[in-house]
Amino acid sequence: MDSESKHIGREYCIEGVISCYQIILRMMVHRLSRRQIPSVMELARSTLTEIYSPSTFIAIQEQCPEGCLVAAEGENVIGFIMGMETKPGKGKILMLAVRPEFRRQGIGSMLLKSLLRQFTVRGIFSITLETRANNTAAMAFYRAHGFEVKKIVPKFYTDDTDAYEMCKSV
Ligand SMILES: CC(C)(COP(=O)(O)OP(=O)(O)OC[C@H]1O[C@@H](n2cnc3c(N)ncnc32)[C@H](O)[C@@H]1OP(=O)(O)O)[C@@H](O)C(=O)NCCC(=O)NCCS
Repeated sequence: MDSESKHIGREYCIEGVISCYQIILRMMVHRLSRRQIPSVMELARSTLTEIYSPSTFIAIQEQCPEGCLVAAEGENVIGFIMGMETKPGKGKILMLAVRPEFRRQGIGSMLLKSLLRQFTVRGIFSITLETRANNTAAMAFYRAHGFEVKKIVPKFYTDDTDAYEMCKSV
């Protein structure tokens, strides 16, 4: 690579970083709307290893709209989280994903904290989730938020991968 192309490469890189930050500044966390479900499904399909049917997303959103949150810039979905009450006082995180180019910028944390706030105002103080035993990023993320591994659930996923059940009391 000559010096000119190196220079151009860096400009592209800086522009990319600036546009990421501009989007984050305009990004908001709010409830998932019906019209955002296709974007959320697409993000889930491209980032989560389990495949969920459209009816799953619609059912969760109808059953627990306050537990379905998106981080979005306008209609542009950058991340989402879905959770619901499973028993009185107990909640579960069902799905969480952030677009790869926006990771490690606090968006997953923002979504998780927003959901935990929704849970606590509804009297939910015990939260669980399952994550793939080989998903080191998710494990590190949840540990950073005070979740602890409670047990291994053998062959939890459709491809027979084990899950770690993690929990947190707030
Ligand atoms: C897990 C996920 C949602 C995290 O989202 P994110 O926006 O990158 O998370 P944050 O930037 O808020 O990270 C908060 C902290 O979690 C930890 N963390 C997050 N990603 C990590 C990684 N890849 N490796 C190690 N630690 C990580 C760090 O402590 C981080 O703080 P730091 O960046 O100051 O070090 C994201 O990696 C993702 O979408 N993964 C694919 C889908 C998935 O696995 N979902 C979970 C299914 S259970």
